[in-house]
Amino acid sequence: MTMPDASRSAVMLGIFSGLVSSTAALCWSLTGFVLIVYFYAYIHQNDKQDIVYSNHLVDTRKLEKVEEEEEFHFTPAKDRRSPRAIKRKGPRKPTSIIQEFLDDSSQVHAFFFPNKKTAISPIKEGNDSMHFYPGQLWLDTDGNPIQAHGGGILYDDNTETYYWYGENKDGPTYHAHESSAARVDIIGVNCYSSKDLWTWTNEGIVLPGEETNVSHDLHKSNVLERPKVIYNDKTDKYVMWMHIDDANYTKASVGVAVSDSATGPFTFLYSMHPQGCESRDMTIFKDDNGEAYIIYSSNDNSELHVGPLTDDYLNVSGFMKRILVGRHREAPALFKHQGIYYMITSGCTGWAPNEALAHAAESIMGPWETMGNPCTGGNRILRSTTFFAQSTFVVPLQGLSGIFIFMADRWNPSELRDSRYVWLPLTIGGLPDEPLDYSFGFPHWPRVSIYWHQRWRLPEGWRAEER
Ligand code: DGJ
Repeated sequence: MTMPDASRSAVMLGIFSGLVSSTAALCWSLTGFVLIVYFYAYIHQNDKQDIVYSNHLVDTRKLEKVEEEEEFHFTPAKDRRSPRAIKRKGPRKPTSIIQEFLDDSSQVHAFFFPNKKTAISPIKEGNDSMHFYPGQLWLDTDGNPIQAHGGGILYDDNTETYYWYGENKDGPTYHAHESSAARVDIIGVNCYSSKDLWTWTNEGIVLPGEETNVSHDLHKSNVLERPKVIYNDKTDKYVMWMHIDDANYTKASVGVAVSDSATGPFTFLYSMHPQGCESRDMTIFKDDNGEAYIIYSSNDNSELHVGPLTDDYLNVSGFMKRILVGRHREAPALFKHQGIYYMITSGCTGWAPNEALAHAAESIMGPWETMGNPCTGGNRILRSTTFFAQSTFVVPLQGLSGIFIFMADRWNPSELRDSRYVWLPLTIGGLPDEPLDYSFGFPHWPRVSIYWHQRWRLPEGWRAEER
């Protein structure tokens, strides 16, 4: 029996279409196989990196844990007045916890300045290794308390080392006049080096005070505070800016010093009034494009000024913006994340602690907006006193994007050399408390949070991953 033509072509068509569909199926299977192999290879190629990264995520989440503390209950310090004075003036008015904190005979003071027995030492191996203990005495690799107050940190690409510059206050505390603030003579700017931000080696005094020449800006009877160093890629120089003042804080100037090496010695160049204005607490900031800026409290500390430095970082350019006018802020600490500038400031209460504020801006020249108190965890008093400390610097971390170290000073005005360091993790994210600017119902800025921890550490191997 012969097949009719129509049926034959139908069968041929069937065979042909069967062939086409099995070829397509084969192609798809092959593609699928290749994709699976590729995907597998890709996942395994990133295995090591992912383990490190997810470990970091777990560890960095720990840093954002809100650690609550009970409210403080202290017995007030003994009334140190004579019985006659007490009889004459009556019993002492209740003192605030800040007054107690400043009174070196009080329980509160002893609590916030724990003694040498609890000192943290990088030379003692053990459980405390690599852990930060805000407020506890912190020793260098020689076993001496670190003297780097009002400090700032430079990460030096040339040596792949961190350098911590700060005021050496290791002299007697006294009052120049009966009513003036506690002070220590200028000893100089100390420098410490570290690879891990925890083990610090003393590199010595890189800018010494002046012993004899009374007309010198750095004469010991003056004030040298808040030294900060940045590196100039064009001139290959390390440039230090600092607050220079007289004992009464009426000179209100900035000083500039320069060195060929991160570990000095620095040569002091001059002091000046930036843009002809008063300058007290200050900092400098080097942007990603190499432009550098100075930010200083001015006009009786009622406002901050921000302006670019010259290309060599040795002077200010003529241009300046007044920011946070009438807000009376000092101790500025500036940092940048994902193209936005952030700043932490304190109020102006001398050596006494007060509430910090976080600010944000799209351009460093402003406008700057205030987002509220960044301090998180602890208790109400810790948060309202910046954990009994004052901002000085915010350190970006090489291997960990979006995580910073907030550096603050816990001043001890009865013994300034015994002032402590409060270093805590700072992160950016979540809703701000006080957003001034909204866009389409969403706050413009994420929250800046400084998390309280009695004891904390950076994730293990945090520097390994340069993301
Ligand atoms: C507060 C400043 O932030 C410190 O650097 C220091 O100048 C004290 N005032 C002095 O009272």
